Amino acid sequence: MKKNILIIPGDGIGQEVTTWGKKVLEKISEKYGHDFAFDEAIMGHVAIEATGNPLPDETLEKARKSDAILFGAIGHAKYDNDPSAKVRPEQGLLKIRKELGLYANLRPILLFDELLNASSLKPEILKGTDILFFRELTGDVYFGEKHRSNDRNFASDLMNYNRYEIERITIKAFEAAQRRSKRLCSVDKANVLETSRLWREVVQEIAQQYPDVETEHMFIDNAAMQLVKNPKKFDVVLTANLFGDILTDEASQIAGSMGMLASASIGDGTGFFEPIHGSAHDIAGQNKANPLASILSVALMLEISFGLKEEAAFVTKAVADTLKAGFRTLDIADNTTSPELILGTKEMGAKVLEAFAEKKNVVYS
Ligand SMILES: NC(=O)c1ccc[n+]([C@@H]2O[C@H](COP(=O)([O-])OP(=O)(O)OC[C@H]3O[C@@H](n4cnc5c(N)ncnc54)[C@H](O)[C@@H]3O)[C@@H](O)[C@H]2O)c1
Repeated sequence: MKKNILIIPGDGIGQEVTTWGKKVLEKISEKYGHDFAFDEAIMGHVAIEATGNPLPDETLEKARKSDAILFGAIGHAKYDNDPSAKVRPEQGLLKIRKELGLYANLRPILLFDELLNASSLKPEILKGTDILFFRELTGDVYFGEKHRSNDRNFASDLMNYNRYEIERITIKAFEAAQRRSKRLCSVDKANVLETSRLWREVVQEIAQQYPDVETEHMFIDNAAMQLVKNPKKFDVVLTANLFGDILTDEASQIAGSMGMLASASIGDGTGFFEPIHGSAHDIAGQNKANPLASILSVALMLEISFGLKEEAAFVTKAVADTLKAGFRTLDIADNTTSPELILGTKEMGAKVLEAFAEKKNVVYS
């Protein structure tokens, strides 16, 4: 299979982890006889420094021409401490999502048994958890009108949704529920918010076309509590942009670390694949970042954008085998991990590639 893949490393640890996502793609292409061609582009703080623009036109042009994008992260401490900065790295990310029409963010909460102890939650509560979040990406308070009064003492962010924005992600989520355990939970705040009342109305209408899927509606406050009380209760979770942002970070603790979770942003064209974590200035440039979320993002790309299920399963299995062999980065190590098994970014990435080599003749379903 011939594919053009754009790599956008971004800032901070984005650069370190994406290197390993790309190496995995190269290995897969070699092993399965695919023809993956790579190009690279800048976004975020590095792009502001180089061009003054967090999403240069050249990057957007390359993104539009590619079949899939592997992204690292954006962000720099300088902007975190200066909320008044007009040009900001995250504008690049919001703009590329809009321009590519990426309306659904998929975040699988994949729990490796070997990491049951890395979570702050009890292993017996976590074991067997398998959730797929669908977070809406193009509406909500992120894009509504923003206002600050002249005396600077009043601020507002408009939360808004169009029916079509809710419909298209709801259909994708129901389709996924049909392929999984046929359970879907839609999370909103319909007791308070008008946008949530529209959300619930649309989900209820579309649910009628999927009678084989058991549909539940839950308020966000209850969902946030149930997620840590009984995460196995959930399978497909469908929610709006802001609620999804918060819930999925909460859910990252189920998997043990932000460094383990991958995500896919999809629309009707090019797919965008990235770890859920940010640029992590606190550990950037120190070879401490966990590259597994970037590698698992590659597995999502192979399956969702290219339909390469066997290759995707191969990547996930290589990660599982690396963990089974006891190797850990600092974020997923616990007090039972021997110091010689705690690896840096480069060493962990290399271990996953070694696991590939050992599995040459194994067939994965
Ligand atoms: N999608 C994105 O690009 C994205 C997402 C979130 C935050 N950000 C940006 O990233 C910057 C830092 O934000 P933050 O600190 O809130 O979130 P973060 O995800 O960068 O880091 C949160 C914590 O998790 C740790 N961590 C994150 N990824 C890790 C990994 N792969 N391996 C090991 N540890 C890891 C960090 O060291 C930090 O302690 C900010 O500028 C923010 O705007 C970008």
